[in-house]
This record gives sequence, C-alpha cells and structure tokens, in this order.
Amino acid sequence: MIKPYIPAPTLLKGRVILVTGASQGIGREAAKLFAKYGASVILLARTVKKLEILYDEIEQAGFPTPAIYPMNLANAAPKDYEDLYKNIETHFGKLDGLLHNAAMLGTLTPIEHYTIEQWYQVLQVNLNSAFLLTQATLPLLKRSEDASIVFTSANEGFQGKAYWGAYGVSKFAIQGLMQTLANELEAHTAIRVNSINPIKVKTALRKNAYPAENNSSLPLPQDILSQYLYLIGPDSGGITGKNFDVA
Ligand SMILES: NC(=O)c1ccc[n+]([C@@H]2O[C@H](COP(=O)([O-])OP(=O)(O)OC[C@H]3O[C@@H](n4cnc5c(N)ncnc54)[C@H](OP(=O)(O)O)[C@@H]3O)[C@@H](O)[C@H]2O)c1
Repeated sequence: MIKPYIPAPTLLKGRVILVTGASQGIGREAAKLFAKYGASVILLARTVKKLEILYDEIEQAGFPTPAIYPMNLANAAPKDYEDLYKNIETHFGKLDGLLHNAAMLGTLTPIEHYTIEQWYQVLQVNLNSAFLLTQATLPLLKRSEDASIVFTSANEGFQGKAYWGAYGVSKFAIQGLMQTLANELEAHTAIRVNSINPIKVKTALRKNAYPAENNSSLPLPQDILSQYLYLIGPDSGGITGKNFDVA
C-alpha cells in the first residue's frame, strides 16, 4: 500500500461485506468506513443494542442500508452458519468481503491453571468460528468478481508469550488458517486472503489485557483503518497470503 492511501470515494460501491465483532472497537469503525465507501455491510456480534445504534448511524449518514446479524460465536452450531449463508443468499445473493474481527481475550493465566472451559470457548470464538464462517460463506464469495477475506492477527500469535494462553494460541492458528486458505484459493478463485495485526489500539479488549496501562496515547480504531480499507477493496487485487502490521 502506498502511503497515504487515497481510496476512490466509490471504492466499495455495490459490494457486500460481512464484519464480525461489529458492535464495538475496531470492527465497528471498520464496518462504518466500509459503508462510507459504498458497501452494504452485514453487522455481526452479540450485542443487538450496539448494532442497532451503528445501523442508525450508517443510515443517517446516507450510506447503503446495512443489515444486522446477531450471533453468539461461542455457541453457534453448524446449522446457524447454514442459516447465515441462506440469509445472505436471499438478501444479497453474494458476498464480496469478509472481515474476521471478533475475538475474546479469555484470561491471562499460566497454561497450568487455564480452565478447560475457557480454553474451549476462546478457541471457539477466535478460531473455530472463523473456519465455520469461512466455509459457510465460500460459495457466496466465489460469486464475487473480486472477493477479499481478512483475518485479524496479534503480536501474541507470532511469538509465544507467557500467560496469553488460548488467545495467543488462537492467533497462531489464525495465521495458519489464513495462509492455508490463501494457498488453496489463489490458483482457482478471485478470492484473496490476508490478515491484519492491529498491534495496539484503544479498545475494550486492550483495556482488559493491560488494565494498568495509560492508554491516552494509543491510537483509536478509526486511526488505523486505511489498511483494512485497502485489503478489503479492489486496490489490493493480487495480494494474498500476507500479514500486515498496522500501527
Ligand atoms: N485492540 C488491540 O490493541 C488489538 C491488538 C491486536 C489484535 N487485536 C484484534 O483485533 C480484533 C478486534 O478487537 P478489539 O480490540 O476491537 O476488541 P473489542 O473492542 O473487545 O471488540 C471485540 C468484538 O468482538 C465481538 N465478540 C466477542 N465475543 C463474541 C462472540 N462470542 N460472538 C460474537 N461476537 C463476539 C464483540 O461484540 P459483542 O460483545 O457485542 O458480541 C466486539 O464487537 C480482535 O480480533 C483482536 O484480537 C486487537
């Protein structure tokens, strides 16, 4: 990406983009930005109230009407992903972008004491749901002339770090999933697959991970989004299998 990135105002016109974890933090601001550039965004998270507020903001700004899709990735069954596929198929007929952004931190605990239930839950939300969602929506992404899947990585998923437990392990695995999928799809489809590591952003997740940190100088989600826009849109055509750190 050439900096500063100056996207065309209609960069995402006519595109349908699903964003997980759209109720707050990075996902919320990314979804709003995609809508600003012309995309119909599908907003997925658990907290309906927050999704409704975002829906209203997008409508009031005059951007394409979004869709709300409440879903708990911790306990969704394969049938729920099938239903999501059917809903998108009925309302939009295709999918051009998928931002896997939702994640939970779990607890910062030594492996020795990590509770089994929490281990399963973190891996379900951060990793297994990304597999299930990708598999369910691939037929819709294949209908797009230029589709992009973006996963979300983290520093703890490149270098193992004490106490980061299931969160760190899930992010290691997300890199594996991203690279495997990119390699599978590059020869036969117009789907590119990459990941973004947001490094340090002032969000609830960051606050939970570093409660004592003075976060006043951390970037806000809206400050780090140009790489998201670039990767989800057509300007990143041909780029696949790569991770990008944003700061
Ligand atoms: N902030 C950072 O410094 C940083 C650094 C590196 C990587 N990241 C990554 O960036 C991504 C976004 O993080 P963030 O900092 O913006 O975190 P955040 O503010 O805590 O947002 C997390 C989002 O995930 C959703 N989510 C959590 N559990 C869910 C579940 N069971 N089902 C459905 N949705 C669920 C939340 O929505 P509901 O609660 O409404 O469900 C929320 O919208 C994550 O993948 C994170 O690992 C962040």
